[in-house]
Amino acid sequence: MPTVLITGGCGYIGSHTAIELMKVGKLDVISIDNHHNSSPEAIDRIEAIAGKRMKNYAIDACDRAAVQEVFEAHPDIVGVIHFAAYKAVGESVEKPLEYYHNNFESLVNMLAACEANGVENFIFSSSCTVYGDIDKLPVTEETPTTEAASPYGNTKLVGERIIQDFIKSTDKVKAIALRYFNPVGADESGLNGEDPINAPNNLVPFITRVASGLLPQLTVFGGDYPTRDGTCIRDYIHVTDISIAHINALDYLLDGKNSSNYERLNLGSGNGVSVLEAINAFEEVSGVKLNYVIGDRRPGDVTQIYSDSSLAKEKLGWVAGRGISEMMASAWKWQLNLNESRAAQEA
Ligand code: UD1
Repeated sequence: MPTVLITGGCGYIGSHTAIELMKVGKLDVISIDNHHNSSPEAIDRIEAIAGKRMKNYAIDACDRAAVQEVFEAHPDIVGVIHFAAYKAVGESVEKPLEYYHNNFESLVNMLAACEANGVENFIFSSSCTVYGDIDKLPVTEETPTTEAASPYGNTKLVGERIIQDFIKSTDKVKAIALRYFNPVGADESGLNGEDPINAPNNLVPFITRVASGLLPQLTVFGGDYPTRDGTCIRDYIHVTDISIAHINALDYLLDGKNSSNYERLNLGSGNGVSVLEAINAFEEVSGVKLNYVIGDRRPGDVTQIYSDSSLAKEKLGWVAGRGISEMMASAWKWQLNLNESRAAQEA
């Protein structure tokens, strides 16, 4: 059966994409994930929801020989979705070389493996971070990219460039870079969601951990931004919507609908939501009053960013259908499930 190889298949977006791919059932799903920031339990969760077990190779995507063995064991691979990467902005400032090594080496390796093994279709996880701090909103794919504010951001910016240069050099591989805005939420079953091994940096896992008493308090980073309530504005998008976009993007390439061999698409909802609005949405759906304070700005945060995703609609027939309440309700359901299963494990 035609097979899709996803790197980071046990991670947040990778695991949700595996579920949606299995639900569609057209392609077999295999994964490369060394659990650097993911748990092997994700494989059980995927199975509990999708009814199928994903084969995961717990190898490093930077390990050329090990990756080649996977390609050789699966001659039916028709596409690669490359999620695996380090993604903490702050950590990337402290450990730039680790970020550059890991994110570039794995990307180059996967591209080379595609070319060497006749795999024509490649999807890359990029980020709206490539646009930097931009005044003209919403951002379209024509919005110029700006110098990255962090090594993490630079790995996305330069990562896109690496793909672009590679695609110019070969007619054997086609690629799409998907620029995610802020993916949040969990599978609607509440059985799979974001479960970072390392401490959460992102807003929604922080909110759900504070609400369940695992962390004492949320600090809202800055209340004096020039926005409607003084807090930063982001374009939150449900992880299931993001996952479905990957399936559409892969189909688009497989069906030869691409207009060039390298394309980039924004994946956002188009709605700007402030930090306080996100907190309110969470409080409404959960019925939990969140303990938070307004603190200092976080270095490197942009004031506001949201997407024009009409190109993804036009090309992939994709729209982000799930709103902020659904994102928060699913994230909360997932956190409650996680708390319960962790408590049972400890008992
Ligand atoms: C950034 C990147 C995004 C990337 C992600 C990876 C931008 C615009 N976005 O997202 O592309 O995928 O990092 O980690 O560069 N906040 C608080 N308190 C907290 C945590 C967050 O107030 O404890 C606020 C932040 O200031 C921000 C919003 O919540 O305004 C979202 O923050 P976060 O979830 O960390 O994502 P971004 O920094 O937007």
